[in-house]
Amino acid sequence: MTQQTPDHRTIRWGILGLGKIAHEFAHDLAIIPSAELIAVGSRSQERSQAFAQQYNVPNAHDSYASLAKDPNVDAIYIATPHASHCENTLLCLQHQKAVLCEKPFAMNLSEVEKMITASKENNTLLMEALWTRFLPNFQYVLDIVESEKYGKPLKLEADFGFAVPFDATSRLFNKSLGGGSLLDIGIYPAFLALSTLGYPDVIKASTEFGRTGVDERCDIEFDYDAGARATLKSTFRETTPTQAILHFEKAKVIMNTNFYQFSSVSIETATKTQIISFDKKGTGYYLEALHFNELLRSGHTESPLMSFDLSRKLMKLLDEIRGIIGLEY
Ligand SMILES: NC(=O)c1ccc[n+]([C@@H]2O[C@H](COP(=O)([O-])OP(=O)(O)OC[C@H]3O[C@@H](n4cnc5c(N)ncnc54)[C@H](OP(=O)(O)O)[C@@H]3O)[C@@H](O)[C@H]2O)c1
Repeated sequence: MTQQTPDHRTIRWGILGLGKIAHEFAHDLAIIPSAELIAVGSRSQERSQAFAQQYNVPNAHDSYASLAKDPNVDAIYIATPHASHCENTLLCLQHQKAVLCEKPFAMNLSEVEKMITASKENNTLLMEALWTRFLPNFQYVLDIVESEKYGKPLKLEADFGFAVPFDATSRLFNKSLGGGSLLDIGIYPAFLALSTLGYPDVIKASTEFGRTGVDERCDIEFDYDAGARATLKSTFRETTPTQAILHFEKAKVIMNTNFYQFSSVSIETATKTQIISFDKKGTGYYLEALHFNELLRSGHTESPLMSFDLSRKLMKLLDEIRGIIGLEY
């Protein structure tokens, strides 16, 4: 990682791919005083202009290549479907634009390696936009694990599920865009297990494929030689509590409903139950952007919190699960 003197310059952002999450990110970016959304890029001039008008963005590009070449842009947030992440990231890095790329970072580990190599060759910042890593509830739980305040973690139960009506045209069900529950939402319970219990020694998984050949449900179990176990689930077929329960030797720590967002944390010990809430601004995407801005200003090309190694491990885990359930893209 290279380091330069920190400065306070405003980071000039661009957004590539103007779908659902691009809007959320644009809203949250407006919370940060030292960041400015100055350009957007879409495959369609019309969508680009409409988005630019909505958020008062001066430059509306009608192609991703044109956005990547914009000399005024410092950082690009990639908000396209998973299957395009690698190609879009390489394009931006070639033009020395710092890249914050949505999760999953790519479709497989080989693509992730290409992206990391491009970041190193171009000496340009790259980070996976796994926003949950930057939320205070997530950090709070990581601190509990690290401190061993309640002893060692023994068991994790985490789910992420919402009932989605089948729509073959939606990216969630479209195999060529990387559809399926595992890569879209199963990544959150998997990331939580990786962050709290580590890389598993044994992985078991089962699935139900839908009409388009993607996993509409995925049940996963991680076993650890040290004795811990994680039971994880993702599904498009039912709405589930979407909570995470981490059992320690001396307490149960519950990341409450929508654990991957700004949720509260409950701690149950033999004698009391405590609920910890966190101050919320926006949806929470601004926190990953704040971290990214600081990295960029201080000349870093990799995040210490969402490191290349962590992104590699996460993708390797998803690749292994896909291998077990027989999901090939
Ligand atoms: N962090 C989070 O909380 C979160 C939440 C939702 C999604 N995501 C991630 O963000 C990414 C985008 O999700 P989304 O829900 O925003 O998707 P979306 O609404 O379908 O938007 C994706 C955008 O990508 C562009 N695109 C490029 N190639 C495309 C293609 N072949 N088919 C369709 N669109 C294409 C389109 O923008 P243009 O037409 O303007 O080029 C489209 O509007 C996914 O990887 C997802 O995992 C993250």
